[in-house]
Amino acid sequence: MPYTLPPLPFDPAAFKDFVSANTFAFHHGKHLQAYIDSANKLVQGSHYEGKSLIDVVMTSSGPLFNQAAQAWNHEFYFNCLTPEPQEIPDKLQALLKANFDSVEGFKEKFAAAAVSNFGSGWTWLMQTGPNKLKLFSTSNAGNPMVDGFTPLLTIDVWEHAYYLDYQNRRADYVRDFLKHVNWQFVTDNLK
Ligand SMILES: [Fe+2]
Repeated sequence: MPYTLPPLPFDPAAFKDFVSANTFAFHHGKHLQAYIDSANKLVQGSHYEGKSLIDVVMTSSGPLFNQAAQAWNHEFYFNCLTPEPQEIPDKLQALLKANFDSVEGFKEKFAAAAVSNFGSGWTWLMQTGPNKLKLFSTSNAGNPMVDGFTPLLTIDVWEHAYYLDYQNRRADYVRDFLKHVNWQFVTDNLK
């Protein structure tokens, strides 16, 4: 079965102080679609054909890894977003406090990591063990799963994620991203 474009899990026009529906239209409908199309072409006729996207991410390398991981990372990123600001569930709040001193401390460190992630890539909150959370920045299509860690939250810092609305102001994009995190999704990713 070829990989298919998952629908956005929200109304892309519903964000009033984040990226625009136009950005989502390109990011989801063009960029993510292109990664999915390329992954489909590359698995065709290979021993990866028929494997799930996550299996391909975990076991491939080179161009196929890049396309498959970009497809997986984008679906995960869109699931991390919600138009309506959410409270952080108690369980996650406690873990953020235990690992980053405070929720605000976590947000500051996450934002600093995302702003300083050089070039194109992703900044993650990941789980590295029972009650252990860490920040992790990857370049290009990188993903903490391949290092054995559990992704909880990610921000796409490729310029295509924000340039139409924020141009070079990545710090503003990161600040507004943090107002629209789907904390329930993040909490559901905990092991
Ligand atoms: Fe992207």
